[in-house]
Amino acid sequence: MKNLIFIGAPGAGKGTMAEKLSASTTIQHISTGAILREEISNETELGKAVKQFLEEGALVPDETVANIVAGKLASDEIQKNGFILDGFPRTENQAVILDGLLKESGVELDAIVLFDLAEDVLMQRLTGRRVCKECGSTLHHMLFNPPKTEGVCDKCGGELYQRPDDNAETAADRLDVYKEQTLPVIEFYKNSGKLVTIDAAPSQNEVFAKLQETVNS
Ligand code: AP5
Ligand code: MG
Repeated sequence: MKNLIFIGAPGAGKGTMAEKLSASTTIQHISTGAILREEISNETELGKAVKQFLEEGALVPDETVANIVAGKLASDEIQKNGFILDGFPRTENQAVILDGLLKESGVELDAIVLFDLAEDVLMQRLTGRRVCKECGSTLHHMLFNPPKTEGVCDKCGGELYQRPDDNAETAADRLDVYKEQTLPVIEFYKNSGKLVTIDAAPSQNEVFAKLQETVNS
C-alpha cells in the first residue's frame, strides 16, 4: 500500500505516525496543517490569509487546502512513491474534491487509516505536544516522550516549541470542529472497503507496529 489518507481527531497521532512511516519508506508525507504553518511563518500572502483560521482552530476554506493538495498530487515524485495525506480531507466536500483529483490523475487510494482515541487522552496529547522548529518532528511529548534535553529536538537538535493552537481552549474548539465537520468524512469512506481503524491509545511504537502491519498487508 502506498497511497494513504490518515484521519483522526486532533492529537490522535496522524502526524507522528506519518513521520515514522515516511522515514522508513519512500512514501511522501503531506500534512496540510504543516504546509499552512510554514506559509504563516514565512509571512506569504497565503499565510496571511489563513493565519486567523489556525489561531482560532477553525478550518481553512476547502478551496485553499484543495489547491495545495492538487499541487502536491501533481508531482512526479509523489505519483511514483505514494503519499500519506495527513489532515486532508477534513470535510465531505474536500473528500469529493479529492476523488475528482485522483480520478483525473488515475491514482487509486489504497487505504484510509482512522486513528481512534478517547477525548480525554486527545486533550493530554495536544497540550503536552512539542514540535521542532527545524525538522517539524512531532515525536516529542512532555509526558509521553519527553526530549532528552528540555526544549531541544532529539532528532536534529532544533528548538522545540508549543503550537499556539495547542492551548486547552483552542484544542477543545478543534475537537468540536472535528466532530461537526470531519466525522462525516469517515461516513463517506465507510462503504469503500478501504477504511481501517487503528487503536491509537498504545505507545508510539505499538501503534506504529499496527500501522506497518496494515501497510504491508
Ligand atoms: P493540523 O496540523 O492537521 O492539526 P490537527 O488535525 O488538529 O491534528 P494535530 O496535528 O493536532 O494532531 P495529530 O493527529 O497530527 O497528532 P500528533 O501526531 O502531532 O491542522 C492545524 C490547522 O490547520 C487546523 O486547525 C486548520 O485550521 C488547518 N487545516 C489543516 N488541514 C486542513 C484541511 N484539510 N482543511 C481545512 N483546514 C485545515 O500527536 C500529538 C502528540 O501526541 C505529539 O506530542 C506526539 O508525540 C504524541 N503521540 C503521538 N502518538 C502517541 C502515542 N501512541 N503515545 C503517546 N504519545 C503519542
Ligand atoms: Mg498533525
